Amino acid sequence: MVSPSPHVIHARFQPYIRLVFSALLLSTGLTNAIAQTPDAQEVAQTLPNVVILATGGTIAGTGASSTTTVGYTSATVGVDKLIAAVPELKKVANVKGEQVFQIASESMTNDHWLKLAKRVNILLARPDVDGIVITHGTDTIEETAYFLDLTVKSRKPVVIVGAMRPSTALSADGPINLYNAVLLAGSKEAIGKGVLVTLNDQINAAREVTKTNTSTTDTFKSPELGMLGYIQGSKPYFYRQSTRKNTLDTEFDITNLDVLPKVDIVYGYADMNSVALDAQVAAGAKGIIHAGVGDGSIAAQMKEPLIAARKKGVIIVRASRVGQGIVARNGEASDDALDFVVSDTLNAQKARILLMLALTKTNNTKEIQRMFYTY
Ligand code: DGL
Repeated sequence: MVSPSPHVIHARFQPYIRLVFSALLLSTGLTNAIAQTPDAQEVAQTLPNVVILATGGTIAGTGASSTTTVGYTSATVGVDKLIAAVPELKKVANVKGEQVFQIASESMTNDHWLKLAKRVNILLARPDVDGIVITHGTDTIEETAYFLDLTVKSRKPVVIVGAMRPSTALSADGPINLYNAVLLAGSKEAIGKGVLVTLNDQINAAREVTKTNTSTTDTFKSPELGMLGYIQGSKPYFYRQSTRKNTLDTEFDITNLDVLPKVDIVYGYADMNSVALDAQVAAGAKGIIHAGVGDGSIAAQMKEPLIAARKKGVIIVRASRVGQGIVARNGEASDDALDFVVSDTLNAQKARILLMLALTKTNNTKEIQRMFYTY
């Protein structure tokens, strides 16, 4: 019997050889692929740890229908549901949620701020927490943000986020705002930038941001001094940062504070009177923010009541109802002679926050004026 040539053997067994070779390739490839594809645990280890502190607001609001964008109920959806509604969060951070309050932010108080700031500081002191997101009603976001800007003792990111449409609305802005906030709070770019506010793909500094429209999604702006940057394609872009001291660089410490000094605001307008001012002083105000017209001007009929308040030891800060620009010292009033303080560029509601914290340190108006030029 003639032995088949090697060529004939090869041809006969070729399909089997190819099969074995392919199986080898596949298994090697799979091995490599498996070796290269990290498992969920390995992925989690590469992501930042972000804690979401929920306080309520529209971002947690619900409306009667998908077209209800005003007249809805604020502060109804809990933090776990907020997180569950944005599964994409898992791609950018390891997220945990805490329901600190569940309120509409017009009802935010000094007590809420002290509790929130203390919780933030405890969490940021932990090595396994990389950043904090605070979900919040938009009505007083700017005040909470500035209070935290002056009292958080860490360089780790603290990002405050809200929404202008309830979670049930068509094109609700809450989910994307929350995604951006978590992304920002876990980013290296946000470290050391002070407390930040993000809505509408924009990044604003706590000191300058303010609500400029009652109901539109682009309401938060830092008029004139400008926003810090954008969030685009799951990445933060910074173009500037505030020149004023904040967070770790401030002299304020609320660790052992259970109450803040009472400071009220008097709103300036043509033909105003001192009834509100007198009542606030009588009720024990330690400081008054006079939100004057123009460059913080004081109406003739208000001068004596303000001087009388100062004589009782009440600190008077001249701010402006205008909202932008510097309130010049010794401009519209003789601040040196009257022993008043000026707010620099802080609006009245933020000047109130700085004066409350200043009064936890001193009653000296020269020291307080220094603080208004520092923070
Ligand atoms: N009640 C308002 C608040 O909680 C709703 C506004 C909002 O959150 O956007 O601030």
